[in-house]
Amino acid sequence: MRAILPTTDFHPPIPRVGDLPDPAPGQGEVLVAVEAAGINHADLHQLRGAYPPPPGESDVPGLECAGVVLEGEMGSPWQPGVRVMALLGGGGHATRVAIPTGQLMPLPDNLSFVEGGAIPEAALTAWVNLVVEGGLQAGETVLVTGATGGMGSFAVQLARELGARVLAAGRSRERLELLRGLGIEEVCLEGANLPGQVREATGGRGVDLVLDFTGGPETAGHLAALAPRGRLVVVGLVGGRRGEVDFGLVLSHRLHVIGSVLRARPREEKARLVADFAAFALPRLRDGRLRPVVDRVIPLERAAEAYQALERGGAFGKIVLSMV
Ligand SMILES: NC(=O)c1ccc[n+]([C@@H]2O[C@H](COP(=O)([O-])OP(=O)(O)OC[C@H]3O[C@@H](n4cnc5c(N)ncnc54)[C@H](OP(=O)(O)O)[C@@H]3O)[C@@H](O)[C@H]2O)c1
Repeated sequence: MRAILPTTDFHPPIPRVGDLPDPAPGQGEVLVAVEAAGINHADLHQLRGAYPPPPGESDVPGLECAGVVLEGEMGSPWQPGVRVMALLGGGGHATRVAIPTGQLMPLPDNLSFVEGGAIPEAALTAWVNLVVEGGLQAGETVLVTGATGGMGSFAVQLARELGARVLAAGRSRERLELLRGLGIEEVCLEGANLPGQVREATGGRGVDLVLDFTGGPETAGHLAALAPRGRLVVVGLVGGRRGEVDFGLVLSHRLHVIGSVLRARPREEKARLVADFAAFALPRLRDGRLRPVVDRVIPLERAAEAYQALERGGAFGKIVLSMV
């Protein structure tokens, strides 16, 4: 198969594409011919040597893909020729990948492989952090930071479908405005006045949940945007690892600060999350209420260009590798 080689000595991370043996599916896995695969910051960190795959997972980068089953599992719906999309522990940036059946979802007919390859990581990250970690209830208000990115652009839609009122934060008003078509109610620019903008949009109350994809120095403002008993779920750190926390505010407003990663969760837990997400979201993906946002598609052989584009920033939605 063609694949991004599992090397970790690149500074900056420049993926190299080469030939590797096809993976042999183990017990409870199927072999899939990958057609498209989203790229994620975890792939960049992995190439830098800073984010090794969990034990037992492929050391080829790639946390999500869409494709066609080549070798299925007896007695399961996953038979050769079935179109699928999947959450992966690794291995998606290749033309073949072995996938645990619990992490597969059918790819709806109305979605292309490129769209399918852009869904699983953003969708499951949004699901686990809005529903499981964040405890989002219909009628609550959510602020999604980094909302124009690959994760945020799906999270705002999922939050809306879960019955929340959704505010979107970012640094580019122009890109944020594009999210209005996805059902967000208000855009807020990052900076000193972020809590003020959120209070204005919420009648002075603040939001119930911040789904935070950026972290860093803006964290102080994200905490200050919360209503009493609000939850800050820290998921991404594109803005940096360090920020200032006003513990007086945390204490007096009885705030909850929650950190969360998806990739490290055991396969059994991922299978439960995928099943719950699929039950809720597949009908909405089929009728177009949920739709991934794809910024651009780049062939695997030009993976370096795709990785550099993610590193540079400025995309609206996901960057996807195509295998053909
Ligand atoms: N914990 C988990 O399980 C998990 C799972 C998946 C992803 N993640 C993390 O989630 C984060 C977002 O991933 P993504 O795929 O959405 O990335 P992305 O597509 O690059 O989007 C990042 C977003 O953050 C904004 N941003 C970039 N640099 C920023 C900064 N210095 N300060 C404030 N905002 C900034 C960008 O918008 P503007 O430039 O318009 O502001 C963009 O909307 C990454 O850190 C990723 O590693 C975590």
